[in-house]
Amino acid sequence: MIDKLIYMETFGCQMNVNDSERIITMLGDLGYAATNEPSAADMILLNTCSVRGGAEEKVYKRLQNLKIYKRDGKSQIIGVGGCVAQQEGEELLKKFPFLDLVFGTHNLHLLPDMVRGAEQGERRSETAFIDNEQRLDLFPSIKGKSRLSRFVTVMQGCDNFCSYCIVPYVRGREISRRSSDILTEVSQLADEGVREIVLLGQNVNSYGLKVDSEPTFAELIRQVAEVQGIERIRFTTSHPKDMSDDLIACFSDVTKLCGQIHLPAQSGSDAVLQRMKRVYNRESYLEKVRKLKAVRPGIVFTGDIIVGFPGETDEDFEKTLSLIEEVRYIDLFTFVYSPRPGTKAAEFPEEMTRSQKMARLDRLMALQKQINLEICNEYIGGLQSVMVEGEGKLPGQISGKADNGRIVNFSGKKNLIGSFVDVRIAKAYPNSLLGELPK
Ligand code: 5AD
Ligand code: SF4
Repeated sequence: MIDKLIYMETFGCQMNVNDSERIITMLGDLGYAATNEPSAADMILLNTCSVRGGAEEKVYKRLQNLKIYKRDGKSQIIGVGGCVAQQEGEELLKKFPFLDLVFGTHNLHLLPDMVRGAEQGERRSETAFIDNEQRLDLFPSIKGKSRLSRFVTVMQGCDNFCSYCIVPYVRGREISRRSSDILTEVSQLADEGVREIVLLGQNVNSYGLKVDSEPTFAELIRQVAEVQGIERIRFTTSHPKDMSDDLIACFSDVTKLCGQIHLPAQSGSDAVLQRMKRVYNRESYLEKVRKLKAVRPGIVFTGDIIVGFPGETDEDFEKTLSLIEEVRYIDLFTFVYSPRPGTKAAEFPEEMTRSQKMARLDRLMALQKQINLEICNEYIGGLQSVMVEGEGKLPGQISGKADNGRIVNFSGKKNLIGSFVDVRIAKAYPNSLLGELPK
């Protein structure tokens, strides 16, 4: 029976968004339903991110603000999960006396028990890593939301230890899920009406590499493509070092695999890439981009770039700009470097001022804005196959995604929701396209 409300705020990456959905599913069994109103909630949970310093401070501020909802006489529960929880552990309980629960990235399965305890006034922190086979059975699936597109986690954690990144410390060792479990979940989702699967992992294309009995990521994609009812496959986030020829070939012969890829370069300079411990260089990255463009004409790239990495010279930065011009990303996620505790790069001396970093960021963003505009304008007049997912922003509009991942809004009847339609593009915006049904 649903008789309690949970308000959940999620920071950071898609992993966290996915974990939040799983938490809501799990706590549904304890009688909790989601609400958007913190003041009405019986429980408030923050699912946090610590990839960049700013994100972490945001969590601390938010926690202080949430304190006001902890009213006398009402046993409202407040909890923190995700990467900040993993990093800080019990310290959070000490720092914030009104906090009841702290749960790490490997401990979601303990949450129902922790919540039951908190309902009785217990305060508890659980942040132990589970780096053994048992973890494979702790991937609870997400139920109860009928949607056309769903994420399916295929691996968790990261073993790459890029020198700037905290993820391997807060998400733990890389582990690949059993392909049989993945395929069962995909089939169930297809039966529920899901048409698009987004395969999810911190380093998704290293899937299966460390387990002889499991397929490679390329083979897994081919197996998912066999599942009846699934029409589209995407994946995120991929590491350039694991962009194998076999995976590149999937973009040529697996027609269900969409023509869109998130392939973070981080920098265009070999010297910086080496200090970042990215294990590829500019040329090998660009070679993969060229191959992908050759096998899938029109493929759309998105990426991540860090500016102001310790020791990044003007020349290094110019190389990043020229890489961006060569790849021509449709969207770029740009980050100003921030040192993270415990990482290798946190020991590197930083010479650049904040304003120097910001000046570089501005140049990068200006260049990207121009490239985005040029690419999007090229869509005008052409047809895009749109998977219609819901109503659009304006009355009378419906909305969906093109194969390349762009959101397309257009005037149309609601009964088209759930189907694939060819839409002619009339206008381009930075983040979406405006289309019309061909007459
Ligand atoms: N500083 C700035 N950006 C970072 N990222 C990861 N760690 C840091 C850091 N310390 C960025 C990378 C990564 C994205 C998710 O966040 O670009 O791909
Ligand atoms: Fe972080 Fe590098 Fe792993 Fe990505 S691949 S999560 S940037 S360590």
